[in-house]
Amino acid sequence: MRKNIVAGNWKMNKNVIDAQQLMAQLLEYKKENATNCEVWIAPPALYLMMARDIFENNEVGVFSQDMSEFAAGAYTGEISADMLQSIEADGSIIGHSERRQYHGETDAACNKKVKAALDKGLIPVYCNGETLEQRKSGKHLEVVKAQTEEALFTLSAEEIKKVVIAYEPVWAIGTGETATPEQAQEIHAHIRSLIAAKYGQEVADEISILYGGSVKPDNAKEIFSQPDIDGGLIGGAALKIEDFSKIIEGFNN
Ligand code: 13P
Repeated sequence: MRKNIVAGNWKMNKNVIDAQQLMAQLLEYKKENATNCEVWIAPPALYLMMARDIFENNEVGVFSQDMSEFAAGAYTGEISADMLQSIEADGSIIGHSERRQYHGETDAACNKKVKAALDKGLIPVYCNGETLEQRKSGKHLEVVKAQTEEALFTLSAEEIKKVVIAYEPVWAIGTGETATPEQAQEIHAHIRSLIAAKYGQEVADEISILYGGSVKPDNAKEIFSQPDIDGGLIGGAALKIEDFSKIIEGFNN
């Protein structure tokens, strides 16, 4: 059965003191509360080793926000799958729309990154999602189809089962405008049906598909209750324990 996951993408936020404080709060929360989902965070790369130390018993999954498609070498500023594996990180976000927008990340590069992550035993959290223009012109299903196929469909069935997909409509990220649960469910079901058509229903049913884009404490439960939505990739609301914990509790009955 696929997992329920609430993952916090911290983006470029928090100095080391504040990052350590939030990790400590999260550890305390996890120790005191049973959760009905896995909890993951993707802090800035600088804090990944600290995160691994704090969550030494895997109370919280530790993910990078990006990683290189290359194994090693002259790629200033990059971090490799091997480095992530060596600090016992759990995986990496790949293809976030902000990487696509500001760093020219393509689906072809994402495909290489996903492969590189899997080859080192890391979980790729592959992000896709349409822009406002693409949705307005009715191209959202087509765009997400192309992104999913190009980045993932060279994988074997065994490999794709290990991937987590995050559908993040660009128009809903950091805008306070959330996709309605029905809009999100439509795309999640679409992604799952594409995977089922290529790899079979059994494989498709094993893949967790997260929704991202202005998930907040007051809308999380309804979003997570949709049949093809297996959790969330949370930006702004992952930066405060009060909000993030309420979102995690969106999985409680
Ligand atoms: P917000 O939750 O701030 O909209 O960000 C979503 C996101 O981009 C998570 O990766």
